[in-house]
Amino acid sequence: MSGIDYQERIPNNVDLASDRTLKRALEHWQPNYLQWWRDMGPEGAHDLEVYLRTAVSVDPQGWAQFGFVKMPEYRWGIFLNPPVPERRIHFGDHLGEPVWQEVPGEYRNLLRRLIVTQGDTEPASVEQQRHLGATCPSLYDLRNLFQVNVEEGRHLWAMVYLLHKYFGRDGREEAEALLERRSGETDNPRLLEAFNEKTPDWLSFFMFTYFTDRDGKFQLCALAESAFDPLARTTRFMLTEEAHHMFVGESGVGRIIRRTCEVMRELGTDEPDKIRAAGVIDLPTIQRYLNFHFSVTIDLFGSDQSSNAATFYTSGLKGRFEEGKRQDDHRLREATYRILEARDGRLVERDVPMLNALNEVLRDDYIRDSIGGVERWNRIIEKQGLPFRLKVPHKAFNRRIGSLADLKVSPEGRVLSPREWDEKVHEWLPTEQDRAFVASLMGRVIEPGKFANWIAPPMVGINGKPIDFEYVRFA
Ligand SMILES: [Fe+2]
Ligand SMILES: [Fe+2]
Repeated sequence: MSGIDYQERIPNNVDLASDRTLKRALEHWQPNYLQWWRDMGPEGAHDLEVYLRTAVSVDPQGWAQFGFVKMPEYRWGIFLNPPVPERRIHFGDHLGEPVWQEVPGEYRNLLRRLIVTQGDTEPASVEQQRHLGATCPSLYDLRNLFQVNVEEGRHLWAMVYLLHKYFGRDGREEAEALLERRSGETDNPRLLEAFNEKTPDWLSFFMFTYFTDRDGKFQLCALAESAFDPLARTTRFMLTEEAHHMFVGESGVGRIIRRTCEVMRELGTDEPDKIRAAGVIDLPTIQRYLNFHFSVTIDLFGSDQSSNAATFYTSGLKGRFEEGKRQDDHRLREATYRILEARDGRLVERDVPMLNALNEVLRDDYIRDSIGGVERWNRIIEKQGLPFRLKVPHKAFNRRIGSLADLKVSPEGRVLSPREWDEKVHEWLPTEQDRAFVASLMGRVIEPGKFANWIAPPMVGINGKPIDFEYVRFA
């Protein structure tokens, strides 16, 4: 079951060969996907040979195989974790019943919406990142970008498989639409706001993979609890890929910080102008990028109170993060949860039914998880003997969704008048000048072993290869 069939046109471990209708439908979708990749995938990169890992099995050990691949020839396919025998629904109204191998009619629309929303983020991020290859700081980083991109492409395959297999004609139409929407386009944008933002430079890319791919992790973890077993199994496998994306983000930002700190010590200054003149990114600018990506990403969890969130949970479609590890009744009819909301221009806490607050529960789990890496970044600064510390902004800072969207709140959590906000916002969010400065540093470095001035080399290479390995070959 865990072995992947690479003889097939579509590599898979779901015995696609035995389902001819499905196989034909997916083989019909495949050329459209490849056309999308050529149009919207990494720009100018189709002929490059990239040292990529490809899934060969879904076993925790030995799932990956490394080798040089031209990206349009990457073997995208359908890989599900093996089924858990006797698996039962462990939350919501159907608690204790066997998990579903087919979609229950009454949940069909809800489930399709969940899958489409998740699926839409996957090609969106590839589109957002498609120009970054032109300004890569090293071959090592270029390869990591491409690895993230091909895996997001595979995540799209994971969702499209479910749409084709379980949702008939509607599913096929949704699968086509996933290739038609475009990140940032006015007429036909991607479904979620953070996935329509630009990822114009590598600081943004690393922040995105740290913060926004971590949103992916939490959404996938919640879906991996699902009573709809094929969704649970496919998202479990996606999580193993997601971990790499967050590593790229955390280590990328960490290396930028390390390089900045080195220059600060050499020059004996913390003045942003002098640091910038030395061609590295000053820490306050890194903080503003952090504020932006954090606040935009936590909006992705949706409104703090949501009857949809309650429905997704009670119906068994979407659990909480680590549902199985929680010590409660897993029905939550009586449970409450403390949320933060705006009342008369102030921030107040209020206990509400937990079922309605499950977006907030997931958001808070996410926030706890994302603070960890920020603390690791601070240790890099601390080791260099510098007093600056990065900080995750207050949950109410720069929000666009939910009841907190009505307020202007500082990164420390102080409620501001609109005028105070306007006066101060340039200290908290990246300005045009910040973005122009960061953009001015972006130049292409493709000599093996060389790194752009604004980023430190990594500690180790990929798959045991040296740091100066030729991770991408130009024809
Ligand atoms: Fe993904
Ligand atoms: Fe990802």
